[in-house]
Amino acid sequence: MKRQKLENLLDEMWRDYLNLNPEVRGIYELFQAVGENVVNDHIALRTFNLEKTNIKRLAKPFKDCGYEKKDTYHFKGKKLYAEHFEHREAHWPKIFISELLVGEFSEKTQEIIEKLVSQMDEGITKADHFVCSGRPWDLDSETYKKLLEVSEYAAWVAAFGFRPNHFTISVNALKSFDDVEDVNKFLKAKGIPLNTSGGEVKGSKEARLKQSSTLANLVSVDFSDKTIEIPGCYYEFAKRFTLPNGKLYQGFVTSSADKIFESTDQKERKKG
Ligand code: NI
Repeated sequence: MKRQKLENLLDEMWRDYLNLNPEVRGIYELFQAVGENVVNDHIALRTFNLEKTNIKRLAKPFKDCGYEKKDTYHFKGKKLYAEHFEHREAHWPKIFISELLVGEFSEKTQEIIEKLVSQMDEGITKADHFVCSGRPWDLDSETYKKLLEVSEYAAWVAAFGFRPNHFTISVNALKSFDDVEDVNKFLKAKGIPLNTSGGEVKGSKEARLKQSSTLANLVSVDFSDKTIEIPGCYYEFAKRFTLPNGKLYQGFVTSSADKIFESTDQKERKKG
């Protein structure tokens, strides 16, 4: 029963992610075309740390299905906090949930975010599919731009609401790609832009985790006053290495994740 519930939830998240980012389907199909069976390493979610929307709320449907909190992460510069969850059956993807520390921003910014969240019906946050329910508030383009000036992350959550920010292909599970560099080479040959902030490859074998990601594609978002194209979601690739105890490292590397967050940054797209 729980297994079915979890399968349905992950399916719904995947469909929501593909609908918003048709480019991701294209990349997924490139791997299928070379005979790969794509396995997810993790799925990432973003939110605000307010009572109605914090990590606890987003984690609930996963915890109900057997996930447990495994580790916590701090991103001082970006004013973010994150936790990752694992299922006791290791074949399920890890869930990485970050939240914006709203209280660390100016009163004006706090007010903007609180006003958005106050538009939310409490009931929606208790539904299992809350994590892929989209934007539950009205937002005009000027407010979006104001948030963008202080936090790219805040602006992303304001514009897209609650939905997967990215899925991550497990490079370990690929048969014909040994490492992240091989995946990057394959994608670049197909003309797919990668996030180069902090280098194309984040992390190292010594850190037990190497990651790369595409740059978020542009998505047309309907604001209350007009429609604008802004960066949506990206696709990530992760290769994990064994710990001295012989087990694969399952955590995340803060310095790498810090740069991966920038995959939705418009400035990164302009550089490329
Ligand atoms: Ni990730």
